[in-house]
Amino acid sequence: MPGLPGTAFAALLDAYPQRQAVLALLTRLHRHHAASAGHSVRVGQVLLAMATEQPGYLGDPGTAFVAGLLHDVGKLAVPPGTLDSPASLDKAGRDLIRAHPAEGAAILAEAGFQPLIVEVALGHHERWQGGGYPAGLPATAQPRLSRAVAVADALVAMVEPGRPYRAPLGREAALTELRACAGVHFDPETTSILLAAASRGDGPLATLLGT
Ligand SMILES: [Fe+2]
Repeated sequence: MPGLPGTAFAALLDAYPQRQAVLALLTRLHRHHAASAGHSVRVGQVLLAMATEQPGYLGDPGTAFVAGLLHDVGKLAVPPGTLDSPASLDKAGRDLIRAHPAEGAAILAEAGFQPLIVEVALGHHERWQGGGYPAGLPATAQPRLSRAVAVADALVAMVEPGRPYRAPLGREAALTELRACAGVHFDPETTSILLAAASRGDGPLATLLGT
């Protein structure tokens, strides 16, 4: 998959039963909007770091990795121009963005992915105390893995390059923001695991955070 960051990541999927379907969807996403595919790989890597940080807490690490890789596949249904300018979108554009969790869940269900992977795609923008989308209900009812993807997604979005509408945050500013939002937007437990993983000085998460 030329152009995708973390080219060694595909080897981590060797034991996953739907490896080919995962790679095919990521390749489609990369052709549609390369930045979204790169973001997805980074979120998958963060999920893997979290699953490694506290073994067993997020279940099977391979499933956690795939949940991260595919959480945003619904962006296939959002035009690239809309994805590149969310800060200045009209209502129609915002509605397209807000539909991507349900679009992703439909794509993944159609492809035969396990219900947990589908649930993560649908629930990754819900918030701990409610007010996210599409349901807007407290994320306490979401699967643990969905809550983990929500916080990983937020961290990656804050620090990664390539967002034309804003500059990336530095490591300390991003981690401070996560701490401030734990218990409000993000599940406090999964946020603690992510912060512990982020305190390590090696691996893809350290690279992402510039440490
Ligand atoms: Fe998303």
